[in-house]
Amino acid sequence: MLKNDQKVFVLLENNNPQVESLSKQLEIPLITQKQIDSHRDGFFLAWRDNKLALFDIKSPKKGMSVEFDARSMEQPSWPAPKTGTLAQAIGKKTKTVVDATAGWGQDSFHVFRMGYQIVSIERSKIMAALLGDGFERLGNQSWIQQLNLKSPKLIVGNAIEILQNLEYIPDCIYLDPMFPAKRKKSALAKKPLVVLKGIVGEDEDKKDLFACALQVAGKRVVVKSPNYAEPLGGKPDLSFAGKLVRYDVYFKT
Ligand SMILES: C[S@@+](CC[C@H](N)C(=O)[O-])C[C@H]1O[C@@H](n2cnc3c(N)ncnc32)[C@H](O)[C@@H]1O
Repeated sequence: MLKNDQKVFVLLENNNPQVESLSKQLEIPLITQKQIDSHRDGFFLAWRDNKLALFDIKSPKKGMSVEFDARSMEQPSWPAPKTGTLAQAIGKKTKTVVDATAGWGQDSFHVFRMGYQIVSIERSKIMAALLGDGFERLGNQSWIQQLNLKSPKLIVGNAIEILQNLEYIPDCIYLDPMFPAKRKKSALAKKPLVVLKGIVGEDEDKKDLFACALQVAGKRVVVKSPNYAEPLGGKPDLSFAGKLVRYDVYFKT
Protein backbone atom coordinates (compact mmCIF):
# COMPACT_ATOMS: atom_id res chain seq x y z
CA MET A 1 0.00 0.00 0.00
CA LEU A 2 2.66 2.52 0.93
CA LYS A 3 4.24 1.55 -2.32
CA ASN A 4 7.05 4.00 -2.67
CA ASP A 5 7.42 5.37 0.83
CA GLN A 6 10.84 3.73 0.86
CA LYS A 7 11.82 5.91 -2.11
CA VAL A 8 11.07 9.16 -0.32
CA PHE A 9 13.81 11.13 1.40
CA VAL A 10 14.16 14.32 3.40
CA LEU A 11 16.62 16.83 1.96
CA LEU A 12 19.41 17.62 4.41
CA GLU A 13 19.68 21.39 4.74
CA ASN A 14 22.29 22.54 7.21
CA ASN A 15 20.47 25.67 8.23
CA ASN A 16 17.15 23.92 8.85
CA PRO A 17 16.80 22.13 12.22
CA GLN A 18 13.36 20.75 11.25
CA VAL A 19 14.74 18.23 8.76
CA GLU A 20 16.11 15.81 11.33
CA SER A 21 12.91 15.61 13.35
CA LEU A 22 10.88 15.16 10.16
CA SER A 23 13.15 12.34 9.03
CA LYS A 24 12.76 10.65 12.44
CA GLN A 25 9.01 11.22 12.60
CA LEU A 26 8.42 9.76 9.13
CA GLU A 27 11.14 7.13 9.45
CA ILE A 28 12.65 8.08 6.10
CA PRO A 29 16.32 8.81 5.43
CA LEU A 30 18.02 12.17 5.13
CA ILE A 31 19.75 12.77 1.82
CA THR A 32 22.12 15.45 0.56
CA GLN A 33 21.60 17.41 -2.65
CA LYS A 34 24.59 15.60 -4.14
CA GLN A 35 23.04 12.20 -3.39
CA ILE A 36 19.72 13.34 -4.88
CA ASP A 37 21.49 14.26 -8.10
CA SER A 38 22.69 10.69 -8.39
CA HIS A 39 19.20 9.14 -7.99
CA ARG A 40 17.12 8.44 -11.09
CA ASP A 41 13.73 8.40 -9.43
CA GLY A 42 11.96 8.83 -6.12
CA PHE A 43 10.82 11.86 -4.15
CA PHE A 44 12.17 14.17 -1.49
CA LEU A 45 10.64 16.51 1.05
CA ALA A 46 12.00 19.99 1.71
CA TRP A 47 10.77 23.35 2.96
CA ARG A 48 10.30 26.09 0.40
CA ASP A 49 8.79 29.51 1.18
CA ASN A 50 7.81 28.25 4.64
CA LYS A 51 5.83 25.37 3.17
CA LEU A 52 6.64 21.68 3.31
CA ALA A 53 6.86 20.48 -0.29
CA LEU A 54 7.27 17.17 -2.09
CA PHE A 55 9.66 17.08 -5.04
CA ASP A 56 9.82 14.49 -7.80
CA ILE A 57 13.51 13.70 -8.38
CA LYS A 58 12.80 13.47 -12.13
CA SER A 59 11.61 17.09 -12.25
CA PRO A 60 12.88 18.65 -9.03
CA LYS A 61 12.40 22.33 -9.89
CA LYS A 62 8.84 22.69 -8.64
CA GLY A 63 7.69 21.08 -5.43
CA MET A 64 4.10 20.32 -4.48
CA SER A 65 2.60 21.57 -1.24
CA VAL A 66 -0.91 21.40 0.09
CA GLU A 67 -2.53 24.53 -1.27
CA PHE A 68 -6.06 25.67 -0.69
CA ASP A 69 -7.75 27.67 -3.41
CA ALA A 70 -6.50 31.27 -3.20
CA ARG A 71 -9.87 32.80 -3.98
CA SER A 72 -11.50 30.88 -1.14
CA MET A 73 -8.69 31.95 1.16
CA GLU A 74 -9.41 35.60 0.40
CA GLN A 75 -13.14 35.13 0.67
CA PRO A 76 -14.04 35.86 4.28
CA SER A 77 -17.71 34.83 3.99
CA TRP A 78 -18.27 31.48 5.62
CA PRO A 79 -19.92 29.05 5.16
CA ALA A 80 -19.89 28.96 1.37
CA PRO A 81 -23.22 27.94 -0.23
CA LYS A 82 -23.91 24.21 -0.35
CA THR A 83 -24.12 24.02 -4.11
CA GLY A 84 -22.66 21.62 -6.68
CA THR A 85 -22.53 17.86 -6.97
CA LEU A 86 -20.35 17.30 -3.88
CA ALA A 87 -22.83 19.19 -1.68
CA GLN A 88 -25.74 17.32 -3.25
CA ALA A 89 -24.04 14.02 -2.49
CA ILE A 90 -23.19 14.94 1.12
CA GLY A 91 -26.68 16.29 1.70
CA LYS A 92 -27.90 19.57 3.17
CA LYS A 93 -29.01 18.04 6.48
CA THR A 94 -25.65 16.35 7.10
CA LYS A 95 -23.67 18.01 9.89
CA THR A 96 -20.61 15.82 10.52
CA VAL A 97 -18.37 14.38 7.80
CA VAL A 98 -15.29 12.17 8.01
CA ASP A 99 -13.04 12.32 4.94
CA ALA A 100 -11.40 8.91 5.28
CA THR A 101 -9.04 9.37 2.31
CA ALA A 102 -7.72 12.91 2.73
CA GLY A 103 -4.72 12.92 0.30
CA TRP A 104 -3.93 16.51 -0.75
CA GLY A 105 -6.89 17.76 1.32
CA GLN A 106 -8.74 19.44 -1.54
CA ASP A 107 -12.05 17.69 -0.88
CA SER A 108 -11.68 18.11 2.89
CA PHE A 109 -11.22 21.84 2.34
CA HIS A 110 -14.22 22.05 0.00
CA VAL A 111 -16.39 20.29 2.60
CA PHE A 112 -14.98 22.50 5.40
CA ARG A 113 -15.70 25.65 3.37
CA MET A 114 -19.35 24.66 3.07
CA GLY A 115 -19.64 24.67 6.86
CA TYR A 116 -19.74 20.94 7.60
CA GLN A 117 -17.83 19.72 10.67
CA ILE A 118 -15.06 17.64 9.19
CA VAL A 119 -12.36 15.26 10.40
CA SER A 120 -9.76 14.08 7.87
CA ILE A 121 -7.94 10.73 7.92
CA GLU A 122 -4.78 9.91 5.94
CA ARG A 123 -2.66 6.78 6.29
CA SER A 124 0.44 7.80 4.35
CA LYS A 125 2.70 9.48 6.90
CA ILE A 126 4.26 11.50 4.10
CA MET A 127 0.95 12.79 2.78
CA ALA A 128 -0.18 13.44 6.36
CA ALA A 129 2.95 15.55 7.00
CA LEU A 130 2.20 17.64 3.89
CA LEU A 131 -1.46 17.94 4.82
CA GLY A 132 -0.70 18.79 8.44
CA ASP A 133 1.53 21.60 7.21
CA GLY A 134 -1.25 22.82 4.88
CA PHE A 135 -3.87 22.75 7.65
CA GLU A 136 -1.51 24.63 9.96
CA ARG A 137 -1.06 27.38 7.37
CA LEU A 138 -4.83 27.41 6.79
CA GLY A 139 -5.39 27.90 10.53
CA ASN A 140 -3.13 30.97 10.43
CA GLN A 141 -5.18 32.67 7.71
CA SER A 142 -6.81 35.87 8.95
CA TRP A 143 -10.32 34.94 7.74
CA ILE A 144 -10.22 31.69 9.71
CA GLN A 145 -9.02 33.47 12.84
CA GLN A 146 -11.54 36.29 12.49
CA LEU A 147 -14.35 33.74 12.28
CA ASN A 148 -12.89 31.81 15.22
CA LEU A 149 -12.68 28.63 13.16
CA LYS A 150 -10.17 25.82 13.38
CA SER A 151 -8.65 23.85 10.51
CA PRO A 152 -10.06 20.34 10.07
CA LYS A 153 -8.66 17.81 12.55
CA LEU A 154 -6.23 15.38 10.91
CA ILE A 155 -5.90 11.78 12.12
CA VAL A 156 -2.96 9.79 10.78
CA GLY A 157 -3.55 6.08 10.27
CA ASN A 158 -5.58 3.47 8.45
CA ALA A 159 -9.21 4.60 8.29
CA ILE A 160 -10.37 0.98 8.45
CA GLU A 161 -9.12 0.90 12.04
CA ILE A 162 -9.75 4.53 12.96
CA LEU A 163 -13.39 4.60 11.83
CA GLN A 164 -14.20 1.67 14.11
CA ASN A 165 -12.82 3.52 17.13
CA LEU A 166 -14.39 6.95 16.61
CA GLU A 167 -15.97 8.46 19.70
CA TYR A 168 -19.04 9.62 17.77
CA ILE A 169 -21.08 8.50 14.78
CA PRO A 170 -20.43 10.78 11.79
CA ASP A 171 -23.48 11.51 9.60
CA CYS A 172 -21.45 10.99 6.44
CA ILE A 173 -18.23 9.17 5.58
CA TYR A 174 -16.58 10.39 2.41
CA LEU A 175 -14.26 8.17 0.36
CA ASP A 176 -12.05 9.08 -2.58
CA PRO A 177 -9.65 6.15 -2.95
CA MET A 178 -7.27 5.63 -5.86
CA PHE A 179 -8.79 3.98 -8.93
CA PRO A 180 -6.67 2.54 -11.75
CA ALA A 181 -6.23 4.98 -14.65
CA LYS A 182 -8.34 4.30 -17.74
CA ARG A 183 -5.33 4.42 -19.98
CA LYS A 184 -1.73 3.82 -18.95
CA LYS A 185 -0.64 7.40 -19.50
CA SER A 186 -3.76 9.51 -19.25
CA ALA A 187 -3.27 13.07 -20.45
CA LEU A 188 -6.10 14.02 -18.10
CA ALA A 189 -4.36 12.81 -14.97
CA LYS A 190 -3.33 15.81 -12.88
CA LYS A 191 0.25 16.00 -11.64
CA PRO A 192 -0.62 15.93 -7.89
CA LEU A 193 -2.65 12.76 -8.42
CA VAL A 194 0.08 11.11 -10.46
CA VAL A 195 2.61 11.90 -7.73
CA LEU A 196 0.22 10.71 -5.03
CA LYS A 197 -0.16 7.41 -6.84
CA GLY A 198 3.63 7.18 -7.03
CA ILE A 199 3.79 7.54 -3.25
CA VAL A 200 0.83 5.55 -1.95
CA GLY A 201 0.05 3.07 -4.73
CA GLU A 202 -3.40 1.82 -5.71
CA ASP A 203 -5.46 1.60 -2.47
CA GLU A 204 -6.18 -2.05 -3.15
CA ASP A 205 -8.18 -2.42 0.06
CA LYS A 206 -10.82 0.14 -0.99
CA LYS A 207 -13.66 -2.40 -0.90
CA ASP A 208 -12.82 -3.20 2.73
CA LEU A 209 -12.74 0.52 3.48
CA PHE A 210 -16.17 0.92 1.87
CA ALA A 211 -17.62 -1.97 3.91
CA CYS A 212 -16.24 -0.48 7.11
CA ALA A 213 -17.54 3.02 6.25
CA LEU A 214 -21.03 1.69 5.57
CA GLN A 215 -21.04 -0.06 8.92
CA VAL A 216 -19.86 3.02 10.84
CA ALA A 217 -21.62 5.96 9.10
CA GLY A 218 -24.74 7.33 10.73
CA LYS A 219 -26.60 8.26 7.58
CA ARG A 220 -24.63 7.88 4.36
CA VAL A 221 -21.39 7.01 2.60
CA VAL A 222 -20.30 9.06 -0.41
CA VAL A 223 -17.77 7.60 -2.84
CA LYS A 224 -16.00 9.78 -5.40
CA SER A 225 -14.76 7.91 -8.43
CA PRO A 226 -13.79 8.56 -12.04
CA ASN A 227 -16.85 8.39 -14.31
CA TYR A 228 -15.52 5.26 -16.05
CA ALA A 229 -15.11 3.23 -12.81
CA GLU A 230 -17.64 0.68 -11.57
CA PRO A 231 -19.43 1.85 -8.39
CA LEU A 232 -17.35 0.73 -5.41
CA GLY A 233 -20.28 -0.56 -3.34
CA GLY A 234 -22.56 -1.90 -6.10
CA LYS A 235 -25.60 0.04 -7.29
CA PRO A 236 -25.72 3.33 -5.35
CA ASP A 237 -28.92 4.88 -3.97
CA LEU A 238 -28.11 8.18 -5.64
CA SER A 239 -25.43 9.30 -8.06
CA PHE A 240 -24.29 12.78 -9.07
CA ALA A 241 -22.05 12.84 -12.12
CA GLY A 242 -19.89 15.72 -13.30
CA LYS A 243 -17.71 15.89 -16.40
CA LEU A 244 -14.97 13.56 -15.11
CA VAL A 245 -16.00 12.33 -11.67
CA ARG A 246 -19.06 10.87 -10.04
CA TYR A 247 -20.29 10.90 -6.46
CA ASP A 248 -22.13 7.70 -5.52
CA VAL A 249 -24.28 7.89 -2.41
CA TYR A 250 -25.16 4.87 -0.24
CA PHE A 251 -27.75 5.38 2.48
CA LYS A 252 -27.71 3.53 5.78
CA THR A 253 -30.83 1.45 5.99
C1 LIG B 1 -7.19 9.84 -4.42
S1 LIG B 1 -6.42 10.30 -2.94
C2 LIG B 1 -7.55 11.41 -2.20
C3 LIG B 1 -7.50 12.80 -2.74
C4 LIG B 1 -8.28 13.76 -1.91
N1 LIG B 1 -9.71 13.49 -1.97
C5 LIG B 1 -8.00 15.20 -2.27
O1 LIG B 1 -8.94 15.98 -2.41
O2 LIG B 1 -6.81 15.56 -2.36
C6 LIG B 1 -6.55 8.90 -1.89
C7 LIG B 1 -5.84 9.08 -0.54
O3 LIG B 1 -6.48 8.22 0.39
C8 LIG B 1 -5.53 7.62 1.21
N2 LIG B 1 -6.13 6.37 1.70
C9 LIG B 1 -6.58 5.33 0.96
N3 LIG B 1 -7.06 4.35 1.74
C10 LIG B 1 -6.93 4.79 3.02
C11 LIG B 1 -7.23 4.22 4.29
N4 LIG B 1 -7.74 2.99 4.40
N5 LIG B 1 -6.98 4.96 5.39
C12 LIG B 1 -6.44 6.20 5.29
N6 LIG B 1 -6.10 6.77 4.12
C13 LIG B 1 -6.34 6.08 3.00
C14 LIG B 1 -4.33 7.41 0.31
O4 LIG B 1 -3.14 7.28 1.07
C15 LIG B 1 -4.38 8.67 -0.55
O5 LIG B 1 -3.60 9.69 0.03
